[in-house]
Formats: sequence, C-alpha cells, structure tokens
Amino acid sequence: MYTNRKMMAILVAFLLGLTLLSGCTPASEPAAPSEPAEPAEPAEPAAPSEPSASTGPEVGIVLPTRDEPRWVQDETRFNEALADSDYSVEILFSQGSSSNELQNVESLLTKGIKVLIICPHDGDAAAAAADAARAEGVTVISYDRLITGTESVDYYVTFDSIAVGAAQGQYLVDQAQGSDNPLYLYAGAASDNNAFLFFEGAWNVLQPKVADGTFRIINSSEAVNLQDKATLTRDEMGRIINQVTTNWDFNEARNKAESHLTSAGAADKGDVYILAPNDGTARSIADTFATDGDVTSFVVTGQDAEIASVQYIIDGRQSMTVFKDVRSLVKDSIEMALAVLDGQTPDTTGSYDNGVTDVPAKQTEVIVVDQDNVQAALIDSGYYEASQFTGL
Ligand code: BGC
Repeated sequence: MYTNRKMMAILVAFLLGLTLLSGCTPASEPAAPSEPAEPAEPAEPAAPSEPSASTGPEVGIVLPTRDEPRWVQDETRFNEALADSDYSVEILFSQGSSSNELQNVESLLTKGIKVLIICPHDGDAAAAAADAARAEGVTVISYDRLITGTESVDYYVTFDSIAVGAAQGQYLVDQAQGSDNPLYLYAGAASDNNAFLFFEGAWNVLQPKVADGTFRIINSSEAVNLQDKATLTRDEMGRIINQVTTNWDFNEARNKAESHLTSAGAADKGDVYILAPNDGTARSIADTFATDGDVTSFVVTGQDAEIASVQYIIDGRQSMTVFKDVRSLVKDSIEMALAVLDGQTPDTTGSYDNGVTDVPAKQTEVIVVDQDNVQAALIDSGYYEASQFTGL
C-alpha cells in the first residue's frame, strides 16, 4: 500500500514535470548575468512579486513551432549568436497555438524581460501578446512575421518577402517555354501576413505571363477570375489564398495537390509549373506531382533552404529555393534588442504598415538557389557543411 502510494506520487511528480516542460522549452539558459543593463527603465514596477526579476532573462524570444525545420534553424542560429553574450535570453516555442504563444509571453513577462522578440503564429491573434508586453513597458520586436492590428509593435526585422515571392515567380517564368503551360498556385497560411507578401510578389511577375498566354492557371477559379488584374487588393489576394492555402502544413499541401491532380485532365498536366510557397510544402507537393503518370516534368519553387530541400535540389526533386540567411535576421534582431537594453534607438531601414501603425523595420535581402549555385551559396558560404548532403 505504502509502496503503491509512493509509486503514484513519483508518477504524478514525473507527469507534472513533463507537462511543465512541454510547450515551453527554454533553449538557452541565462548566460552570465554580468550586467543588469537596464539603467533607465522607468517607474513601471513590472507586475507583482518577482524577487528573481533581476536574475531572469532580459530578452525573451518566442518562435512559432518546432514542427517546421525553418524555426528550429532560427533557434540554432540564435543560440550560436548568443553563445558569448553577457545577456540572458530564453527561447520558447508556441507549437502552432496562439494561446500557447500568449502564455509564453506572459511567463516571460513575469520573469522580467525587457525586450520581446516574437515571431507570431497568427499575426492578428498575437496583438494580445504584444499589448500585454507593451503594458509592462517591454519593447516588442516582431521577428520575420509582422504582428498586425495593434500599436504595440516597436520594431520589425524581416526578409524582403515581396522579393521572395517575385523570385519564385521569376524562376517559373525563366524556365517556361512556349505557351499554354499549366500553372498550379499554392500559398501560405492566411493568418500569416507574409503569405500575402509572398503571393503579391509572385503575382506581380506571373500575372503578365498569364495574360500573354505563357501560363494557364489550373487550380484556382478565383485566380482565373482575377487573372487580368495586374495588381490585386488584399481582399482579392485573400480570396485566392483561401482557395490554395497550404496553411504551412505539409499534409494539407499534399492533400490539396492530390485533389487538384484528381480533378485536372491530361491537358492540364504534361510539363507543369508549380508556385509552392516554402520548402516544407514544396516537398509534399513535388512528391505528389512526381507520382502522377500524366505529369511529364515539373518546375517547383520553395523558400528557406531547409536541409531536406537542399538535398531535393541536389537530387533534382525540387527546382529552387529562396535562401533566407537566418544568421542575418538573428544578428539584426539581437543588435536591436541590445540597442534597446542600452537605451539607444535601433537602426532601421524602412517601415511596414501593420494595419494600425507604420512599424520601423530592418530588412534583409534574399538569394535564389538552384542546382547551379547550391554549392557556392550554401556550402562555400559556410552556411551548411558539405557532409550534411550526398551527391554534391
Ligand atoms: C516564413 C517562412 C516559413 C513560413 C512557414 C513564413 O512566415 O517567412 O520562412 O517557411 O512562414 O513557417
């Protein structure tokens, strides 16, 4: 009896420990707290009791999910960049849930962070988290994806997302020959402002080539209805995106591609062109198109230079990716955070309208990678090791 109780107590303690750990994974432990570094934080006595505030992290980082290699890559690069820093940082993942995200932010606020670097799962929903941080006097840096619909965003560090979409569209245009080439469109999640920017960039380049007959859109009646319009409103883009969204989900991408191929006739196949929004969805879509006997060849885009997609490119299973050097984004956001902690105004290069305010932004350029430059752009540059790939 006693033993059973004891076992039960141990089990409960163990399960409790697991629950506490899940969804909330501190990846970098407080580095040497050598300087308190917030000389001038004004009279904003940050929430209730926290005797530990001075020893807690100064910077909190919240990333959307560990389920996509892209964001694990960001975590790795943050840890590399912060290895020698005197500032203490904590990284949490929201696992694709806005309520986890809000909890993560609240937990960081009670630990006394001064700067929040956050990549929202859902741009609109994350406004609540940004507002909570602002209410505590914490500086909010939106990372890669813009938090929308609130004043409470101080800065934005991002890649040039319209250029990402334009590069994807241009790649398809450059590979296409003749006319009447079947074009399949896919998009990211409508809850992610970037999905609109990527689509806008791609549409700018592809639409004239649909209008002149080079491409014929196969899988979106909304896009066909709008194909004569060079510039789309956000609402119009939203109609197309809702029809061809992958939700950034590999399975949803695969299911959509399967159903599009099922309803397409043989004349809609042959040599096809596919706008896939990122690497994870590109691999799902490419694998699906590869199994269709009526598809003779396909050109498919991507972005992120994920390791698996770099291998796909080497193997000829994905045509291109847009390399977004995460080291630059990490460096920019850390520099911004440090400037704020030092009481300075961070450097910015422009601004983004989040629907309520123009958020000062720092933007990083992107690089197109295909078989021709994969070695130079990703291996010789030191981004990846040659040993991570076969057949280079
Ligand atoms: C990011 C992409 C990423 C996608 C899915 C976008 O906001 O910019 O790099 O592939 O989200 O996570």
